[in-house]
Amino acid sequence: MSVDPDKTDIPPRPELLDFHGVSMTHYFTDNWENVQNFQARPDDILIATFPKAGTTWVSYILDLLHFGQISPERQTSIPIYERVPFLEMMLPSVYIGVDLANNLPTSPRLIKTHLQVQLVPKSFWEQNCKVVYVARNAKDNMVSYFHFERMTQVQPEPGDWSSYLQRFMKGKMAFGPWYDHVNGWWKKKQAYSNLHYMFYEDMVEDTGREIDKLCSFLGLSPSVEEKKQITGGVQFDNMKKNDMTNYSTIPLMDFKISPFMRKGKVGDWKNHFTVAQNEEFDEDYKKKMKDPSLQFRTVI
Ligand code: A3P
Repeated sequence: MSVDPDKTDIPPRPELLDFHGVSMTHYFTDNWENVQNFQARPDDILIATFPKAGTTWVSYILDLLHFGQISPERQTSIPIYERVPFLEMMLPSVYIGVDLANNLPTSPRLIKTHLQVQLVPKSFWEQNCKVVYVARNAKDNMVSYFHFERMTQVQPEPGDWSSYLQRFMKGKMAFGPWYDHVNGWWKKKQAYSNLHYMFYEDMVEDTGREIDKLCSFLGLSPSVEEKKQITGGVQFDNMKKNDMTNYSTIPLMDFKISPFMRKGKVGDWKNHFTVAQNEEFDEDYKKKMKDPSLQFRTVI
């Protein structure tokens, strides 16, 4: 199945609901039975992130690394959200992540999730699948999520910026608290060696270096020319122009409010936080982020 733009009569914005102690919306829980029972294969690669941490960027890099050479037409004909299905997403007759994943013809299959680590279908762990987790500093992550919620009806109403900030600190958004997400996956990495934990800020700083690390984790060795092509193709301006990666083919988003490929920067939070908000946020952050081994950069 594929995304059918004619079937996108989107109902009103969803409300948050409590799902096993995590805030969610029904779009991510309606298909839970099938999500939970999803049968992973040993060569599946799971791309896990808190929403707006750089999922699409890493998805595109992984897709190019695996299939860029062997099926170039894929790059110009299939949008990234179909090449890398969003497992728990359920928009009946428009997008059913589990079905898209089950019908993927590729090997490996690249699969995206935003789930908190404890909710991930157990077959991924049983099959010892490779997992790539991308984390982004809380402030920029929140700014990006705020603009995303403004522009898509499938997310709850974001409200104004100051109330959004309070909501973020309380973890009252789809997929729950950012703090639990990044910490939960960080802890998982200590016990599960097939997990590559990476940072958005490192990718912005040196995309080529981070692609090298990904390649060594995935056991890939692209040629110098191929790597150069990939590193160029995945730069923000190129992805923004590319209809297969910029989400312009999905009618659920209003780019007049905010584009999907918005800014792609580290430090945009400075254009949103007041001095007082920043102090309040930092104070709260210190209480929640106690593990000294997990450090984020809010500037580079
Ligand atoms: P901004 O809203 O800060 O611009 P996700 O794919 O997880 O939804 O994340 C979207 C965020 O990643 C957006 O952040 C988007 O611009 C950014 N992004 C996507 N591709 C990027 C790239 N090639 N370089 C830098 N940022 C990128």
